Amino acid sequence: MNLFSKIQLAPKDAIFGVSEAYAADTAPDKVNLGVGVYYTDEGKVPLLKAVYAAEQELIAKKSPRAYVAAEGPNPYNTAVQNLLFGADSPLLKEGRVATVECLGGTGALRVGADFIKTYVIDNAPAAISNPTWDNHRGVFESAHFEVIDYGYYDPKTRGVDFALMTSALESFPKNTTVILHTCCHNPTGADLNEEQWKKIISICKTRELIPFLDIAYQGFADGIEEDGKVVRLFAESGLLFFVASSFSKSFSLYGERVGGLCVVTQSKDEANRVLSQLKRIIRTNYSNPPTHGAAIVATVLNSPQLRKMWEEELAEMRNRIKSMRHALKEKLIEAGVKQDFSFIENQRGMFSYSGLSAEQVERLAKEDHIYAIATGRICMAALNTKNLDKVAKAIAKVIVSK
Ligand code: LMR
Repeated sequence: MNLFSKIQLAPKDAIFGVSEAYAADTAPDKVNLGVGVYYTDEGKVPLLKAVYAAEQELIAKKSPRAYVAAEGPNPYNTAVQNLLFGADSPLLKEGRVATVECLGGTGALRVGADFIKTYVIDNAPAAISNPTWDNHRGVFESAHFEVIDYGYYDPKTRGVDFALMTSALESFPKNTTVILHTCCHNPTGADLNEEQWKKIISICKTRELIPFLDIAYQGFADGIEEDGKVVRLFAESGLLFFVASSFSKSFSLYGERVGGLCVVTQSKDEANRVLSQLKRIIRTNYSNPPTHGAAIVATVLNSPQLRKMWEEELAEMRNRIKSMRHALKEKLIEAGVKQDFSFIENQRGMFSYSGLSAEQVERLAKEDHIYAIATGRICMAALNTKNLDKVAKAIAKVIVSK
């Protein structure tokens, strides 16, 4: 008997499948606007100066690589909490937040999903925005959730369809886990305003929903403090909730897999019990987290000087993306596009939900070696002063001759 004869070929990942196609393309001027990665104007993934400085400190310490506790090192977890909730957060002072280091934001979502399914509620669905980051569905389905969605984006206004979103949330069964992008919505770049967040909080309360905040792009909209605002609103609301966070983008530490999961509980005692079960999930999955990425992040965030350096570098990344948004809009006009593309400038974070169809995206790859996600999501952080003309002309071509 052949054990594997019935195994079917899995479909390519919607995001990393594009990276594979890009890697296989031999054209010298190919462009990857697929995966959400920040590149410099030279087209390189940066090694941040603050990260390099922290690594030098760590090397000088000659630290051994012993096991760390399943939840990750305390200086890292405290730094994660402070960044999300604010160092003076009453919740943190009361010890009500259970925090574990996780393997990136994805790992944090999965540990949280497993925790909810195993220990909190096993017969309620998880709800994702439509559209959302492709892997949200996969992560929650793998954790055996039924995944439903809530309307979010209005292609006509290129903004949030708030009425659609709230009516969906109001119809969800009690204890539905609702995954919410706190800033830089992936893939649309359309975020809620403060009033709208307050309304979402109130619905979560009355409908007894479980908010699961996903914050993978803190610092890419307006700044670290500003982008943490939504987490603070939930913290002030009295709700119990989850936060999955990531340093992949903000520290340019993609491959190190550094993220965190915070669970806001009712009391210190409850936080201890939650933490003990999160540790079991980690122990039975990958035992304990890797050390290097978290050591870098903790070193930077716990040193005033390195933190300042990091915030400056983050601002530089944020501003470069904004300048590319403006430049692409202008170049599209120059290339003869009549359609109004000013929405590119209003979207926040790394992505633009361009409105390009799957066929147009396919043509970009075939005819011009430019790779994007089939949904029309393009990574603005991969544009630079050298590839901008080529990209604008190629987009103009597929729009004009559709
Ligand atoms: C993306 O959306 O492109 C990134 O978050 C990378 C990923 O893991 O999909």
